Amino acid sequence: MRIAASTRDVIDARRGACRRGVSAPNAMRLNENTLLDGEDVVLVPYTAEHVPRYHRWMASPDLQKLTASEPLTLEQEYDMQRSWRQDDDKCTFIILDKHAWADPASREEDCMVGDVNIFLTDPQEPSLAELEIMIAEPGYRGRGLGKEVTRMMMCYGVAKLGIRKFQAKIGLDNIISIAMFKKFHFQELSVSEVFREITLEMTVDDDVRTTLLGTLTEEEYESSRDGRRAGRRAVSETVPVSQHQD
Ligand SMILES: CC(C)(COP(=O)(O)OP(=O)(O)OC[C@H]1O[C@@H](n2cnc3c(N)ncnc32)[C@H](O)[C@@H]1OP(=O)(O)O)[C@@H](O)C(=O)NCCC(=O)NCCS
Repeated sequence: MRIAASTRDVIDARRGACRRGVSAPNAMRLNENTLLDGEDVVLVPYTAEHVPRYHRWMASPDLQKLTASEPLTLEQEYDMQRSWRQDDDKCTFIILDKHAWADPASREEDCMVGDVNIFLTDPQEPSLAELEIMIAEPGYRGRGLGKEVTRMMMCYGVAKLGIRKFQAKIGLDNIISIAMFKKFHFQELSVSEVFREITLEMTVDDDVRTTLLGTLTEEEYESSRDGRRAGRRAVSETVPVSQHQD
């Protein structure tokens, strides 16, 4: 296990070698009060409330292998969560089971299913992003959530962050993840036999926007969360990604 010397190292250690801090001012703090509303999931910003469960997930050797991650202490996990709120080059959402979350009696932590991330990896190319997804709860895999969340996150990246090209770095043995990204028309860019990793890439053109991405429903996270506790519906805004102007 790598012992990280600083928060930046902790984050780099968590998810492979490609997490470099690049500057895209304000890009990634955009989602700190954003909820994305899907069919079976809601995506919410990563808060301190989510850390204990996240930490338990990442103690799993299977998930460490599938996501090329290294275990962190609970304290390092809190550091990482804080850094997500501050860094300009990353955007993360926690995936919640929408139906469980609709019940005001359920704790948000108990509705957590996984996470999804966008990283800006190249300061020279701010419209290029790396996409990662993890359905951490095994019982939720194979039920279409991976596809739903991937579509929502790509919509968000295109409409809100101006992303025009996505990449995914996946372990060569992770055939499910490779198959899923290929469903979204990602194509092979390179294979590293040394790191046992494939890089897939997808360019967002008009066809992708209309046929793959569709629309995205966005709400204010804090008012939705308070409204759910009080049994009120939140006000939402639908963003048509296909009509987004460059
Ligand atoms: C990879 C992952 C995100 C896929 O999400 P999911 O919710 O399980 O997948 P979905 O049900 O949305 O299915 C998406 C596609 O994956 C493939 N797939 C899903 N389950 C599969 C299985 N058991 N066998 C083969 N392919 C499978 C299919 O191509 C499927 O598309 P289809 O239903 O149109 O045929 C999820 O399984 C996961 O997070 N696994 C653990 C962590 C991980 O591997 N993360 C990716 C790191 S790069």
